[in-house]
Amino acid sequence: MIVRSLTPELLDALPPEAPEARASRRDLHALNALMGHRRAWRSWLRREFDSRAPRAIAELGAGDGVIAAENLLATFPDGDGATLFLVDRAPCVAESTLHTLQRAGWRVCVEKADVFDWLSEPPPLDAICANLFLHHFDDTALTRLLALASRATPLFAAMEPRRGWLGLAGVAALPLIDAHAVTLHDARVSVEAGFCARELSTLWPRDGWLCEERRTFPFSHWFCARKA
Ligand SMILES: C[S@@+](CC[C@H](N)C(=O)[O-])C[C@H]1O[C@@H](n2cnc3c(N)ncnc32)[C@H](O)[C@@H]1O
Repeated sequence: MIVRSLTPELLDALPPEAPEARASRRDLHALNALMGHRRAWRSWLRREFDSRAPRAIAELGAGDGVIAAENLLATFPDGDGATLFLVDRAPCVAESTLHTLQRAGWRVCVEKADVFDWLSEPPPLDAICANLFLHHFDDTALTRLLALASRATPLFAAMEPRRGWLGLAGVAALPLIDAHAVTLHDARVSVEAGFCARELSTLWPRDGWLCEERRTFPFSHWFCARKA
């Protein structure tokens, strides 16, 4: 097994409007689709909420909010006044994303905050999700983050990079889709900082929760915790 190691990601240090950041976010959209994240999130939303949108849902480390917006709009075309919190310390949510959600009946709150501060005083929530976010943190920070999340919501889910040789092979193939240099770097360090086995379940508070954790073929790692 590859030992988990953390290296800062270049995208996190770039101004959101920098051309390299824009290029890398475009790559992220393509990669989320290629890695099957969109399909997985939509089937999770349908499974958990059927056809009625959650009243309040937050995405941690939401970036430009495109993933959350696309998945929620595809699953619940009528937001019916539900609230989406997009939490990021450097959010870059386009007006067009906001307007599309608002036109479909979603109330959107872009929360420019460090995730630890935001989770310390969260609004009432039905669910929290995170896509390619938890792997930014070492185990000590993750234990704190997951404890805060478990107090804020009865339902939490995350899609993360799977740490392993297959992921590294996938990274080696990224030049084939003409990925930007920032993406090539960040994808490699993300796999090295990713998860396997039951690493997230081990860090999630134990009592009163049902945890599901598994590989999502080919390159991803899924975690879901539900209050029992
Ligand atoms: C790899 S991007 C993922 C963006 C989006 N979830 C996606 O899948 O396209 C990680 C995001 O986490 C944000 N981030 C990193 N550390 C953070 C922190 N401590 N608090 C809030 N946001 C953070 C970064 O600003 C960045 O937008």
